[in-house]
Amino acid sequence: MGKTIDEIVEFIRNHRCYSHPIFNNWADVNPPTEVVGALFHQIQRFCASTRPGENFPTAVKNLGLSNESSLLQEIVESEEDHGPHLATMAGFIMNRTAPPGIFADLYDRDAVESKLKEYSDQLLGSLPGYQQESGLTTQCRRARAVFDGRKRTDAESTYRNLGTALALEIISNRQLIPGEKHCLIDSGLYAAKMDDPEMHYLLEHWGEIGAEQQHEKNAIAAVASVLNESTEPLIMQGVTEFLDSLTSLWDVLDAALLQSGYKTEVARAAA
Ligand SMILES: [Fe+2]
Ligand SMILES: [Fe+2]
Repeated sequence: MGKTIDEIVEFIRNHRCYSHPIFNNWADVNPPTEVVGALFHQIQRFCASTRPGENFPTAVKNLGLSNESSLLQEIVESEEDHGPHLATMAGFIMNRTAPPGIFADLYDRDAVESKLKEYSDQLLGSLPGYQQESGLTTQCRRARAVFDGRKRTDAESTYRNLGTALALEIISNRQLIPGEKHCLIDSGLYAAKMDDPEMHYLLEHWGEIGAEQQHEKNAIAAVASVLNESTEPLIMQGVTEFLDSLTSLWDVLDAALLQSGYKTEVARAAA
């Protein structure tokens, strides 16, 4: 007997990714501008890979699952514009780390994103496998590659993609977005408020009425309705690939930028 939907959700909640301390460490360390920039670059590039639906909703529909396909299509459509909103929020926070600010125009997405990449190159560029051109760590590339599966339309890949979508939405709703709220707002480090217009990204994603809550519901409903003994191993593969690869990304960022790396250097410099 394979896992039930409740057991799969429980598996995700018990995974190390779900309670990863990266955002708590961010709040504790109060990282300097360069570190905040490098973190936002890697997070932004990971998030960007999760938004496009590619062939996934159509592939689900082709399996005769039109209801499930609409649930996924709804998620994809609600992701529109999130890239620019995330850049604005990142620029706003960056400005708060270095008064009077780094970015004059928080709505110039290209300018914000290329500056974030510069900080990433500067701090993470010597890590093994770091790709200068894209500014991606090996771990970020691996986490992004999981979403390349959405280009495939065969049944096995499609069930795997359903597992990945489920894990993504639960982690977004319960680890990533609450984590960002913790370090960007609740920490008080940036004097940022949920209703600051530049923080719109977080407002839109967070809480009971946030996008992620709805995404999570949709993903659970879609997976629950296709779950059986033959699809369960594929769904679990998709869940695990997502969780393991994102955990590796959080680990490397945490280690290189927040814990063993920069914190010690900053503390040393201050001593
Ligand atoms: Fe989003
Ligand atoms: Fe989502």
